[in-house]
Order: sequence, then structure tokens, then C-alpha cells
Amino acid sequence: MISTNGDVKAIELASRGKQRIDWAARDMPVLRLIRERFLKERPLEGIRISGCLHITTETANLAITLKAGGADLVLCASNPLSTQDDVAASLVVNEGIPTFAIKAEDETTYYRHIHAALDHKPQMTMDDGCDLVNTMHKDRPDLIEGVIGGLEETTTGVIRLHNMVRDGALRFPVLAVNESDTKHLFDNRYGTGQSTLDAIIRSTNILIAGRNVVVAGYGWCGKGVASRARGMGANVIVTEVDPIRAIEAVMDGFRVMPMLDAAPIGDIFITVTGDKDVIDRHHIEHLKDSAIIANSGHFNDEINVAALQDLSTGHFTARDFVEGYHLRNGKTVFLLAEGRLVNLSAAEGHPASVMDMSFANQALAAEYMLKHRGEFTPQVLKLPVDVDREIAYLKLKSMGHSIDHLTEVQRKYLSSWEAGT
Ligand code: ADE
Repeated sequence: MISTNGDVKAIELASRGKQRIDWAARDMPVLRLIRERFLKERPLEGIRISGCLHITTETANLAITLKAGGADLVLCASNPLSTQDDVAASLVVNEGIPTFAIKAEDETTYYRHIHAALDHKPQMTMDDGCDLVNTMHKDRPDLIEGVIGGLEETTTGVIRLHNMVRDGALRFPVLAVNESDTKHLFDNRYGTGQSTLDAIIRSTNILIAGRNVVVAGYGWCGKGVASRARGMGANVIVTEVDPIRAIEAVMDGFRVMPMLDAAPIGDIFITVTGDKDVIDRHHIEHLKDSAIIANSGHFNDEINVAALQDLSTGHFTARDFVEGYHLRNGKTVFLLAEGRLVNLSAAEGHPASVMDMSFANQALAAEYMLKHRGEFTPQVLKLPVDVDREIAYLKLKSMGHSIDHLTEVQRKYLSSWEAGT
């Protein structure tokens, strides 16, 4: 039996966690403004929220904000390898927020923790990847009736939700926070871009300049990773299945080719597609000696790790988060972070400044969902554009930038159809 206060690795880590949470808070000014308003207005008073999120310093600041708004919150991890144990400890000890998350927990513990978060009988769910909503629909349908709505943080989760809607399975409305421009244009691109390179560098300490870096997928995350790798001097190759994104990559100046052609050329491979077996058995067979493979997509399905194991005579730990595999063809290739999302496993995830906007969206989405309680059928919703724009204005202001505003003449011009040549 795990305690209802949470299940964390070591309570003694709490003071270090608090120090790091405070450090992140300094770079989250928009969330701070929301927290100050929430403290006064208490818009979430007494609402039970279960959050299945990466337990990081940034998430801790979101959790503190929700609690300031009156929420009765519990948290569990949204990935077995992304938890920052000191943060989890601090949430329990210093913030009184039950947190069920231990870095490197096995899958059984991962789901036990999700169930512990569901035992809270949430009126609102907050997901990063849809595991909480999914588990509730599959294993705990009795809890669904009490749910006002859910919030979803990431692209993979939004795709799963749309699939649930298509199959008539989703039973309450979910706000797709990922769909806000102030989320995916920044978090997915600049956050994933920087944190993925950070994780590869931290875990391997290799020089990026002059390497062939293969980026699989040219969505917002792929764009960010490719641009940051190029910025560090890599020769970047992009692989895609979508012809429009592939043209974008070509016109952004990257080489584009199928994975099978990239396999023997690449020094470092990074998958960010959201799909399965993107680096598959037949690709692994063609990798160079010492090739490094990493995934920064949400799930650990993008690299076929079972095939990698099957093709190997054995494996060894080369460094933290770096596992070397001796292939039968005589080559050795290195898998980072077990193929789990490398940026949160081998580094700290996206920096606070970008999570500031993502989590401002989460906090305002919680408030919005509650304000509109009972108004929505089970569907995937977006936050209104004026909320998105308000977050952008606040972020710009906090960064010391201001912009022009439309004059009345310009506003009229843009809404007219008579004016022409
Ligand atoms: N997803 C990506 N980076 C993150 C972070 N730092 N905190 C929470 N979720 C994240």
C-alpha cells in the first residue's frame, strides 16, 4: 500500500528540490502573475485535480499555482524516466501536494502511481500523453461521471484523444492545451530543440560540430531539433513521411532522404515523429559503428529497441543514460535513455522560460474549463484565441518587448472588402 501523501524516492531530497523549483520560478513570470491573481480570486476552490505530468521544477511551479487557485491537487509521473526525485520530494514535503513519482520506476509502479492519482476521484484531469484519461476510461470508468473535463499538454496526447473521439470512446471534454500557439510554437520548437541537444551533450559529451545529425520528423519538435543541431555546426539530415513538411525541410536548407539512406551516414539519430518503429530493424542493420540513437518523442516506441536487442550479442553501460549494443555485424551502437524521451530523461526537459507559456495555458485552461462547466459535449477543445494572445502579450512584456497596435483606420481596412487597387 502506498501512502495517500505520495510515493517518492527520498524525502531528504526536498530542500534541494525547493531550491531548484525557486530557481525555475524566476524564469516563469507569466505563471507568477496568474498565481498572484489565483491567490486572490481562488477560481479553483476545492476542485479535485489529478495531474499526470513530468515531475519537474516547472511542473512544480504549475502545481503551486493551481493550489494557490484553491485546487485540491495530486500528481503522478507521465513517464517512468522523467521524474526529478528532489522535486517530487519537495512537492510532498514543502507544498503538501501528494506526488506519486520515482525516477526509473518500472511499468507496474508507473501504473500503480496513475491509479493512486485516480483514487483522488478527480473532477479535472491534467495529462501529458493521455495515460491518465486512457487508464480512467479503460480501467476506472466508474470515475468518469464526476469529471468536469480534462486538459492535455502534448501532441501525442491530442492525437490519442482525437482517436478516442473518432471511436466514440471519449466521455468528457478535454482542452488541448498543446493547440494554443503560445504552447506548440515555442515549447515544441524551442523547448524540444534546446533540451534534446542538451540531453545528448550531457549524456555523451560529444562534439556536435561536423557530425551528421539525422532528425526524424519535421513537425514543430523536429524543426526545433534540426535548427539547434545546425546552430551547433552539425550537418543535418531530415527524414519525413509528409511531403509538405519534407519540402519545408528542403527549403529550410536541410538534406531530406528516407531513413534507410540516412542510416549508414548518420552519426547521431534523433526521432521526434510520435510514431512507431521509425528506427526499425532494417535501419539498425545499416548503422555506422558508434552511431548514437536517441528519441525525443513522447513514447519509447520510435526506436525498435526489441529489434536492437535481438540484433545484439550483448550490451553494456558506457555512461549514465548511454547503453552500448554490440551488433552481430561487429559494430557497436549507442542507445540513449533506453529510447525514452531523452530531453526529460537525460536532462531536465524544456527550460522554465518556455514552460512559462505552456503552463500559463494549463492554469488558464483549468479556470476556463471550470467556468464553462457542463457546456461542452465530449470533444477535444482549444483555448480561445484571446487567452493565447493575452499570454503572448504578458510574455513579451516580461521580456521587455512591446509591439505596435492596429489603428482604427487599419482595423476598418482589414475588415473591409471594398478597398482594392
Ligand atoms: N515537457 C517538456 N519539458 C518539460 C518540463 N521542463 N516540465 C514539464 N513538462 C515538460
